[in-house]
Amino acid sequence: MTTTYHIPVLLNESVNALVHDPDGTYVDLTFGGGGHSRAILDRLSEKGRLISFDRDQHALNNCIDDPRFTLVNHNFRYMRQFLEYMNCTPIQGILGDLGISSYQIDFNDRGFAHRSDGPLDMRMDIQSPLTAAKILQTYSEKQLLDVFNHYGEIKNAFKLVKTILQNRNGLSFSTVEHFKTAIEACIPKNESAKYLSQVFQALRIEVNQELTDLKQVLYDSEFVLGAGGKLVIISYHSLEDRLVKNYLNSGNFDGKKQTDMYGWSSQPFDCKPSKAITPNPEELERNKRSRSAKLRIGVRTTFQTTSNHSENKPEIHGNSPVKSSAKSKK
Ligand SMILES: C[S@@+](CC[C@H](N)C(=O)[O-])C[C@H]1O[C@@H](n2cnc3c(N)ncnc32)[C@H](O)[C@@H]1O
Repeated sequence: MTTTYHIPVLLNESVNALVHDPDGTYVDLTFGGGGHSRAILDRLSEKGRLISFDRDQHALNNCIDDPRFTLVNHNFRYMRQFLEYMNCTPIQGILGDLGISSYQIDFNDRGFAHRSDGPLDMRMDIQSPLTAAKILQTYSEKQLLDVFNHYGEIKNAFKLVKTILQNRNGLSFSTVEHFKTAIEACIPKNESAKYLSQVFQALRIEVNQELTDLKQVLYDSEFVLGAGGKLVIISYHSLEDRLVKNYLNSGNFDGKKQTDMYGWSSQPFDCKPSKAITPNPEELERNKRSRSAKLRIGVRTTFQTTSNHSENKPEIHGNSPVKSSAKSKK
């Protein structure tokens, strides 16, 4: 299914891998335009159920009218709490199509794209307090260096941060164009698009705490997926893909396999196939935005409600919204 909101990537490859029991309960972590969710519903029986998440209020406009479907307007980092509150664990599969939708990139008020002007915002959830402009205005030198080094892998991060600190004079970072003008001296002439993409990626990851949320949901998937349940994740850059690959291969974010005192491996997932699936030439031709996509599939080995990997547990900051406002928008 194609919508103008977003063209779903690796649609058949991901949904075919995900749905193995048409009567089962599934989660789509990243509803967006609903392309993957619709394809999942097409494969479910009348007994099947789909719970989708999206933190962006605009995605609610794409809600699907189907009694088997629930759309939750919240961060997917709270997936486990929602599923337990809704009393529907264990589930049979989780799909995540990470990053942002075409709608979010193309809608200029959001500031996600360096090619079009707009407020330097970059929030997926417009109710969250942190914007990209606020980061540039308020973060310390060390915090900015961490953001650009770790999330953008920017070669001249030190020069960039120095330039940002020198330009903190109120208006410089309020719009995409102001920011680009302020850092002009740092942008390599022959690879300006690549450089700006890395800078914008770093800011976007920090604004939305994307890697923290991803770690949390990977970790929690162990507790909600039944044995044989599928974890199907599409990622778009190496920082995301490394976390997914390591977790599926070892149950750890650093990729080191663990064994118990008898030497048995305690991996929560079998990674099948072991290599990532990428878009075929036809999809690449049809949808240029699919070019960096990597699909990885894990099969849950057992079902458990406590972890062998508690040292992996990521910190959740802020209160879970579930106790106070577990409303499904339908
Ligand atoms: C690449 S789009 C998904 C597109 C969707 N698969 C489709 O077919 O239309 C990613 C979506 O996930 C949402 N998203 C990203 N991170 C999220 C998070 N931590 N919690 C909830 N939604 C998130 C974004 O707002 C965006 O709408």
